[in-house]
Amino acid sequence: MAEVIWGLATSHVPSIGAAMDNHKTEEPYWKPLFDGYAPARSWMAEHRPDVAVIIYNDHANSIDLDLIPTFGVGTAESYPVADEGWGHRPVPPVIGDPELSEHLVRELMDDSFDIATFNQLDVDHGLTVPLSVYCPDPGQAWPCAVVPVVVNVIQYPQPTAARCYALGQALGRAIRSFPQDRKVAVFGTGGMSHQLAGARAGLINAEFDRMFLDAIETDPETLAALTREDYVREAGTEGIELIMWLVMRGALSNNIKRIHETYHVPASNTAAALALFEDLGATSAVTA
Ligand code: DHB
Ligand code: FE
Repeated sequence: MAEVIWGLATSHVPSIGAAMDNHKTEEPYWKPLFDGYAPARSWMAEHRPDVAVIIYNDHANSIDLDLIPTFGVGTAESYPVADEGWGHRPVPPVIGDPELSEHLVRELMDDSFDIATFNQLDVDHGLTVPLSVYCPDPGQAWPCAVVPVVVNVIQYPQPTAARCYALGQALGRAIRSFPQDRKVAVFGTGGMSHQLAGARAGLINAEFDRMFLDAIETDPETLAALTREDYVREAGTEGIELIMWLVMRGALSNNIKRIHETYHVPASNTAAALALFEDLGATSAVTA
């Protein structure tokens, strides 16, 4: 059977990927951020999944603004790395797991989530930067297959945080019901507070971010109860990406252990964070 072994929440700021691609991680601007990743990276390297289910949003690089699905799952054999206007990132191709994907789409449909199916999908920084956060030196191939789960966070009305959390719970059930053996890691990407344009461009709300970093472990229900307007007001227009962390959290069991977290400002003009949770499995087992 498939099992969820860990969950990773991480920002997907494009310049974090560019810093790695251009060998700038030791420069003073970037070193504190990458030093903050180090303990999580070594733990993850010792706990390799077969598949990463990566919850992310496309930034109008692959999905045209003419048609924006609320939730989608990639079902392809592989996913080309998107050209976002300055060439492809020098990272390996992203290899899919179509059998697991098709199982997830079917199970989510049967669980009342009307999922768009992506038989073709170019993956942008929203997915490739988290892969680089996980594995900075992949060589010729990433160390795991990938199932992309796409969430609309860029066009109003985005799905509610509660719906994202419920999607995650359904996703966790769907993963655990896959009959073949797979060790699965679930990535929730985006955030933390950031706003890229407009009068509040550069907004950082460290108090909200710190609250969110705690509550994603201990009290996800409170985060799920926030409205999209709460997210935009507190975390900025792009800070609403944080609803994707709730999909990841929903997929984990009720027995998790925080392995590492780090919070850093600024990366680009955003707040960046990473939080890593080991999934120890359901606690509903007999206690006496
Ligand atoms: C930037 C873009 C993103 O998609 C994001 O999540 C954070 C930062 C940027 O362009 O700086
Ligand atoms: Fe983004």
